[in-house]
Amino acid sequence: MAVQISPSILSADFARLADEAARVPNADWLHVDVMDNHFVPNLTIGLPVVEALLKATSTPIDCHLMIEDPDRWAPAYAEVGAGSVTIHAEAAKAPVRTLRQIRAAGARSGFALNPSTAVEQYEDLLPEIDMLLLMTVEPGFGGQKFLDVVLPKIRRARELIARYGGEVWLQVDGGVAADTIERCAEAGADVFVAGSAVYGAADPSAAIDHLRELATA
Ligand code: DX5
Ligand code: ZN
Repeated sequence: MAVQISPSILSADFARLADEAARVPNADWLHVDVMDNHFVPNLTIGLPVVEALLKATSTPIDCHLMIEDPDRWAPAYAEVGAGSVTIHAEAAKAPVRTLRQIRAAGARSGFALNPSTAVEQYEDLLPEIDMLLLMTVEPGFGGQKFLDVVLPKIRRARELIARYGGEVWLQVDGGVAADTIERCAEAGADVFVAGSAVYGAADPSAAIDHLRELATA
């Protein structure tokens, strides 16, 4: 299981996104939080900004759609060139179709669960999913406190994936920092989103190296 770090640009300077992307050359992905002020109480950026960012960086884009109608919008993010597109279980009305459309458009399919959403009910969907995202805060804002209550679910999700036997990455997002990443890795996560822990650091690239080291140990 290779550790991957996906810094969230939610904590970067939105007026200088190309520069902010260039500050993290050692990132495996750039995590882009798309919020619509309906699924979550915050409004961020959408498809035009993702398209612009794709032209400005060679780091693959990891789109996390926190929007009410992902079935309608997710395929477009894959079509413009996002490397990974994640939809929320709580919002998708036809997740199997949408996950397949994401893959058909050439991206990795991601499926996200809020802290209180059980993972067991989605066991049969694992063959449709390239990356399972377990939120470790309530989605909507950066800089929130990590929710330890999700740790047992990370463990159970890793067990479900092992039982399924296919390759499904297990991503955590929210409050992931130097003081919490080891717990997540130990529980079975292998892709780590970090916003404030990377872009709030004086040297974002060094912060990524440090997080990677802690998660690998
Ligand atoms: C929150 C977003 C996260 C956010 C994480 O809803 O999905 O990606 O940027 O920020 P930190 O790492 O600061 O908790
Ligand atoms: Zn996110």
